[in-house]
Amino acid sequence: MTEPSTHPVSLTVHVPLDAGRDYDILIGRGLIETAGARVAALGGRRAAIVTDANVAALYGDRLRTSLERAGLGSGIVTVAPGEGSKSYAGYAQVCDGLLALKVERGDLVVALGGGVVGDLAGFAAATLRRGVRFVQVPTSLLAQVDSSVGGKTGINAPLGKNLIGAFHQPRLVLADTATLDTLSEREMRAGYAEVAKYGLIADAGFFDWCEANWRGIFSGGPEREEAVAACCRAKAAVVTRDEREDGERALLNLGHTFGHALERITGYDSARLVHGEGVAIGTALAFRFSARLGLCPGQDAGRVANHLALAGLPTRLQAVPGGCGDADALVEAMAQDKKVRDGALTFILVRGIGQSFIAPGIDRSEVRAFLQDEFAADLRP
Ligand code: GLY
Repeated sequence: MTEPSTHPVSLTVHVPLDAGRDYDILIGRGLIETAGARVAALGGRRAAIVTDANVAALYGDRLRTSLERAGLGSGIVTVAPGEGSKSYAGYAQVCDGLLALKVERGDLVVALGGGVVGDLAGFAAATLRRGVRFVQVPTSLLAQVDSSVGGKTGINAPLGKNLIGAFHQPRLVLADTATLDTLSEREMRAGYAEVAKYGLIADAGFFDWCEANWRGIFSGGPEREEAVAACCRAKAAVVTRDEREDGERALLNLGHTFGHALERITGYDSARLVHGEGVAIGTALAFRFSARLGLCPGQDAGRVANHLALAGLPTRLQAVPGGCGDADALVEAMAQDKKVRDGALTFILVRGIGQSFIAPGIDRSEVRAFLQDEFAADLRP
């Protein structure tokens, strides 16, 4: 990727949940090196790391050394990289590994990695010995701006994404932005889909800022910490008002109903589609679907797709390598989503950029007709 920058930015976002469950998100370069003292301040004798083989090779020893220097017993459970580890088998491996490391009730689990590791380790922590505390050390842009914050943890079931899980808030989030220097362009772009999402949901000014500053996020300028902090602030506010997604938290799923269906159809095969790419296509579809329903100006849908494409993200069903079935298959895949009530689909739709809303009871035939037209669209310039 690009040359790493050394600017010393460190920002803190507080998540003000009720007493004893509130926590800080620290955002800055080099936080892994100082993690030990911060984790030790939470109390406990042991802090066991859960990570994947790729991240372990890059940051595992550094984090373990920092924890041990702070007087914490440590150890590492390493899973295979990729969405496949967010499975029953991956969950069993992590729980057995943590028990073998003698993690007890007062100890901590430290999730070091991207969204897969955070969701998996968090779910293991939520259930191990009926619940132990955990710390998120997210190392992908997607995890830093979204999945490490807010306490959603879980694994995938054969029938769908994230269908087994628990709400379990971390005690601390350490978003070391220097770890993004080693992220591939593709993973960086995928995370950026979630960054842009926060502007599209409820903050048109932030989307304007993204259009002007997205390159600095990728290259490691101070825009990177600003963007991570802005997203975490937005997410913290939503999670504080609606922790268990009884209402507005569902807005954070903009682009995800389509996106999760695409991930399912492509077999969670990251060679074909990673989560953020599914979200990018799903977001562009949500805008075009809203425009088709007469809810949103077509020019907003065009502006969003243009920006995502400029950042190197896919915005069309035709962009999925190996294809993604047909309209019927996609509607069927969506019917397994958690957002289904009495068989009707719930979507996050928009009245424009920064004006999303929850639209329950969307008729399947309406969605099917839209997707048929999307598949048939002539994309020649
Ligand atoms: N990623 C959506 C949420 O945390 O609610």
